[in-house]
Amino acid sequence: MSFENLLIENLGAVRRITVNRPDKLNALNAQTLGELTRAFEQAGEDESVRVVILRGAGEKAFVAGADISELATVTPVQARDFARRGQHTMATIERLGKPVIAQIGGYALGGGMELALACHLRIASEKARLGQPEINLGVIPGFGGTQRLLRVTGRGVALELCLTGVQIDAARAYELNLVNRVVAPEELEAATLALAEQLAASAPEALRSTLDAVITGGEADLSTGLDYEAQAFSTCAATEDMREGTRAFLERRKAVFSGR
Ligand code: COA
Repeated sequence: MSFENLLIENLGAVRRITVNRPDKLNALNAQTLGELTRAFEQAGEDESVRVVILRGAGEKAFVAGADISELATVTPVQARDFARRGQHTMATIERLGKPVIAQIGGYALGGGMELALACHLRIASEKARLGQPEINLGVIPGFGGTQRLLRVTGRGVALELCLTGVQIDAARAYELNLVNRVVAPEELEAATLALAEQLAASAPEALRSTLDAVITGGEADLSTGLDYEAQAFSTCAATEDMREGTRAFLERRKAVFSGR
């Protein structure tokens, strides 16, 4: 399937999805949101894909938000539908069952920050700028930002970012737990790919179970979350990869995971 606003590449078991509207700083219009949902559904269904990298085209931006030219004229009903559509895209990413890494080379603002927050890991360039500037447009984050940001940073920081619309740099984003790593701009692509390849060599069911236990189990109370974890642990024990991983350790060799 071809996409107008996305570039799709396969780098071994890593699928790289690039939002490709650099002249609009990769802003998410309705079409791009729909394409992202479809691209992630495809990545989820394709067994040859173990890990996904999401990035923006060009030097300046990951994604500079929802497309303001589309937002400007929406009715309340259209705004609700737009938010729901964006939330669906973010949920498709978050619940993919395969690790998704956001490669943040520049601006990740508004819907761009929400998109990064829906990914499981975030690597930022020293040049990245993050923020939820929707308040400056008279609206609030509508693609899950108020909820995921709250869960990552806690209430005080989430409120500070959403109430003031302040743009923060990568170092501050790291301090606030918003990104996992910050690297020099020229190292960003290689560092992201190296992490993706490391994950792609792991047992897929163990990756899936980890994501599921942390994301789904983490939304429940502790005892339900622990039940969830025990069940996910048991699921891993049903795989050949678990036998391979434990046997390889005992035989002092590197495990080769088959995905079975
Ligand atoms: N929606 C639609 N278009 C956007 C956009 C967005 N969220 N962000 C940037 N663009 C467009 C600009 O309109 C401009 O298009 P044009 O060349 O056709 O006029 C182009 O991208 C380049 O942006 P520009 O503003 O000229 O770049 P800059 O370097 O001066 O500023 C930003 C960069 C990111 C600070 C600025 O673009 C910005 O504030 N964007 C909006 C961020 C935002 O509020 N996001 C939340 C939306 S809910």
